[in-house]
Amino acid sequence: MQRRPATTAAMMPADETARLAGRFPAGFTWGVATSAYQVEGAARVDGRGDSIWDEFCRRPGAIRDGSSGDEACDHYHRAEADIDLMADLDVRAYRCSISWPRVQPLGSGAWNRKGFDFYERLVDRLLRHGIAPHLTLYHWDLPLALQSKGGWTQRDTVHRYVDYAIEVGRRLGDRVASIATHNEPWVIAMLGHEAGTFAPGVRSRRAAMLVSHHLLLSHGLALQALRASGVRTPLGIVLNQSPIHPASDSVEDLARARLDDGLIIRWYMDPLLLGRYPDDVLSFLGADAPQVPAGDLETVRQPLDFLGINYYTRNVSGTGEALNAPGPGREVTDMGWEVFPAGLTELLLRLDADYALPPIYITENGAAYPDQLIAGRVRDEARIRYLSSHIAAMADALANGVDVRAYFVWSLLDNFEWADGYSRRFGIVYVDYANQQRILKDSAIWYRDFLAATRGARQHKH
Ligand code: FCB
Repeated sequence: MQRRPATTAAMMPADETARLAGRFPAGFTWGVATSAYQVEGAARVDGRGDSIWDEFCRRPGAIRDGSSGDEACDHYHRAEADIDLMADLDVRAYRCSISWPRVQPLGSGAWNRKGFDFYERLVDRLLRHGIAPHLTLYHWDLPLALQSKGGWTQRDTVHRYVDYAIEVGRRLGDRVASIATHNEPWVIAMLGHEAGTFAPGVRSRRAAMLVSHHLLLSHGLALQALRASGVRTPLGIVLNQSPIHPASDSVEDLARARLDDGLIIRWYMDPLLLGRYPDDVLSFLGADAPQVPAGDLETVRQPLDFLGINYYTRNVSGTGEALNAPGPGREVTDMGWEVFPAGLTELLLRLDADYALPPIYITENGAAYPDQLIAGRVRDEARIRYLSSHIAAMADALANGVDVRAYFVWSLLDNFEWADGYSRRFGIVYVDYANQQRILKDSAIWYRDFLAATRGARQHKH
């Protein structure tokens, strides 16, 4: 079914791959990641309810290519083959999310047995293949019924989410290797509710900040509830984080970078780890700052068993117009994101210096490139360079004492890239959407060899 290049020598010399692998300790977790709405498809199958992304995709102009996750990778019907594919690659950890409206169509009330059956079969099959399931409870697909009551701007949604978390914990908590409450609350708040470029497409800073608080509160309450109900698997949250660099050393750009650092990093890290919101951001927000009832911040600050970090690029902040435009000669991915591996080391060292961090999982890292399937093969050397240079940057952080324990490539498969639809390919496995065929890209072969080398390197040490 898949054609494999006979050799990987052209991609990266084997001794270099082995040296990189040798920089990681035994027991380091290597995986691949996806999320429910981006891969599952089967949007109207077996009782799944609508999510805010189903509705958002129906809005003219919302998605670059006018597409939706209706079919996506049809993973709902192809999960067995996709797990076999992971097993072929000898991947031993898989990060995926649960679609809330698949297991509770209206976001409150009745549970959908068929929805849970799918995830229970998925988890059991992963375990049979020796692949550790790492679950994310919320990767952006809120049941639409809750959005019609105000969604994450409503405190009631927090309680509906906690009920959902408890039910997932009850059904799957004893079989999964970790549970993350939320994926990237900054994106949900700011792109979903301030910029409006992601579902639910709201444009209000005040709404966005209230949403961020409710997401954090729901995280804290869910952790308390999961622990109280006896779930023993590591619990945490996933944040998108980048070092924020000023566009120049002008006073204005430095101030903007400091503010963005507050809005992107400290607005989430401070409440989670220190139990407070940063003062400079609060005063910038003024009347747009959320009203925080007494006790909320203590609830947000729960002990974390791990912190997930999604890293793609650095952020360049300033007051000029060419914001985030990488300088001349800088390499960018198909997203227009600068390739900046040193930023991962810098970010991890900075977080480690500023906070008492729990173990870190790099829950996403990867790149979109305009991959082409030619004669059955995708030669994505640029992605191999991207992945290997970021893995090396992570090794640098590890060598400097940061407790990094896991790394997940985004993504196993090309998939529905939100507002970019299918126009951006992040997979190490190519998906031919015309027939849903999966074809290993060169980067998948490289990752398989790299994983083999991590095991080989370990054997030498004993
Ligand atoms: C992250 C998302 C993930 C994927 C990557 C490219 O922000 O968590 O779903 O879209 O970006």
